[in-house]
Amino acid sequence: MKKIGVLTSGGDAPGMNAAIRAVTRTALYKGMEVVGIRRGYNGLINGDVFDMNVRSVSSIIQRGGTLLFTARCPEFKTEEGLQKAVKACKEMGIEGLAVIGGDGSYRGAGDLSARGIPCIGIPGTIDNDISSTDFTIGYDTAMNTVMELVDKLRDTSHSHDRCSVVEVMGRHAGYIAVNTAVACGATEVLCPEMNYNLDEICDKMLKTRMLGKQNFIIIVAEGIGGSSEIAKYIQEKTGIEARATILGHVQRGGSPTVRDRVLASQMGHYAVELLEKGIGNRVIGVRGNQLVDYDIHEALKMTKPFEEDLYRLSDVISI
Ligand code: ADP
Ligand code: F6P
Repeated sequence: MKKIGVLTSGGDAPGMNAAIRAVTRTALYKGMEVVGIRRGYNGLINGDVFDMNVRSVSSIIQRGGTLLFTARCPEFKTEEGLQKAVKACKEMGIEGLAVIGGDGSYRGAGDLSARGIPCIGIPGTIDNDISSTDFTIGYDTAMNTVMELVDKLRDTSHSHDRCSVVEVMGRHAGYIAVNTAVACGATEVLCPEMNYNLDEICDKMLKTRMLGKQNFIIIVAEGIGGSSEIAKYIQEKTGIEARATILGHVQRGGSPTVRDRVLASQMGHYAVELLEKGIGNRVIGVRGNQLVDYDIHEALKMTKPFEEDLYRLSDVISI
C-alpha cells in the first residue's frame, strides 16, 4: 500500500493519540503516505481529511483525547453511507485504514473491508469490553484516574465516618469497577456480571463497623447505576451517612499511563505492518504479552470472561 488513512471512532480514550502517532510514524518510516481523517467515519464520508507528516503527531503522546476528534456516524451503518466512504477512499487514493475504536467501530471496519477497503481495528475504549484483547487502550489510564479520585473521596469519607458510593464507567461491563474496587480497598463492588443483595451489604457494613471500620467505599458499575438510590438505601438501613458520587466523563480524560502509551504504540505499529502486506479485515489484540490479530467477524463473536476471582478476592479482603 502506498497511502493509508487513520481515524478514531466512538468514545475517546487516553492513548488514542499515542496510537495515531505510531500508525503515522510507522507508515511514513515505511515510505507510505498517511491521511488523518477527522471525526471518525464522518470525516471519511465528508472528505474532512488532511495529509500527515512526522511533525503532525509531535507532542501528542502525552495528551488524552484524540487529535483527530471522534464521533458516532449513524450514516455509516447504511449501504449508502458505506458506498460514499468507498468512493471517497478511491478518489483520495486511500488503500487501507487504521480504525481506532470499540466494537461498533470494528463493525464499520468489517463492512468497509468487505467492500474492498482493507481496515485494521485497534481497540480503543476505557471500558475494556472488547473480547478479542486482554486490554484496550485507555483502560489502564481510566482505572488510575478512578483510583486517584476514590482515594480523595476516602479522605473526606474517613473524616466524617461516612460511606462513599462511587459510580464508575464501563458501559455494560464491570472491569473498571472490580479492578478499582480491589485497588481502592472498597467494601463492596456492584457490577452487572454478578448478583448482589443490598441487605447483605448493609449487614456486612454493620458487622465491620462493630470491628472498628469507620468509613466505607462502595463501587457501583454504571451498568448497575442508581448510585444515589443505593446510597439512600444504605443510609436508611444502617444509619451510616452515605453520599453518592458519579465520576462521569472525567474518567475518559487525562494523560495516558505508561501501559497505555506502550500498548497504543505497539498496536499502531502492528496495524501498519499488516496494512503494508495488504492485509485487512483484522483487529489487533494483546494476549498475555503477545500481540495478536483476528478476523474482524471472528473477533466480534468472541466472549470475554469476567474476573470472578478478583471479585471474590475483593470480598474476602474488605472485611
Ligand atoms: P464504539 O466503537 O466505541 O463501540 P459505537 O458503537 O458508537 O462506538 O460505534 C462507533 C461508530 O461505528 C458508529 O457511530 C458507526 O459509525 C460505526 N458503526 C457502529 N456499528 C456499526 C455497524 N453495525 N455497521 C457499520 N458501522 C457501524
Ligand atoms: O465507552 C466509553 C464510555 O465512556 C462508557 O463507559 C460510557 O457508557 C459511554 O462511553 C458514555 O458515552 P457518551 O460519551 O456518549 O456519554
